[in-house]
Amino acid sequence: MKQKCYKGLTFIPYIESERIRERVAELGGEITSRFEGKNPLLICVLNGAAPFALDLFRAIDTDAEIAFVRLKSYEGMESSGKVKEVLGLTDSIKGRDVIIVEDIIDTGRTMHKLMADLSEMEPASLSVATLLFKPEALKCPEVKPDYVGFEIPVKFIIGYGLDIDGLARNLRDIYVLKDESHQ
Ligand code: IMP
Ligand code: MG
Repeated sequence: MKQKCYKGLTFIPYIESERIRERVAELGGEITSRFEGKNPLLICVLNGAAPFALDLFRAIDTDAEIAFVRLKSYEGMESSGKVKEVLGLTDSIKGRDVIIVEDIIDTGRTMHKLMADLSEMEPASLSVATLLFKPEALKCPEVKPDYVGFEIPVKFIIGYGLDIDGLARNLRDIYVLKDESHQ
């Protein structure tokens, strides 16, 4: 694994694909034990969570389903900045065991809004799986992910779904921005 350059920035290897694969298998095992016989519904938040969600889905060894949503951002009136609307959920989730699958939780605002919107649809249970979690960046303490791939410091990450201006999502490994002097 060598460094990568996007937009004039240099990124260095951070989590290699084999470690991601092992961790996803562990999370799949945990979900399998918890939801055995319950047919959970994974809700993947596009675009970033797609690689993780599909790998996690295949790591679950009990009946499960998957659906994909997009979040449409628009500027809200509140100080929290962008408010997001859930698009693409066609079937009812009422009474379902829903697991939201995200690539990364940073401030937690996206997840907070998504959880609020999905809760209104009356699932039997609502849990959260995120590949990456930056606990020190969290601004919404109500957001407590149930399944976390890796807890990381407040750093900018790309690869395995995570992008910089739409690029780098196809990298198999995860990379971190080399120059951290802005922190
Ligand atoms: P939050 O609402 O602040 O938790 O932000 C979540 C969203 O910000 C994620 O779904 C990503 O799209 C984006 N994001 C946060 N941190 C990173 C990062 O380190 N790399 C790439 N995207 C990120
Ligand atoms: Mg995302």
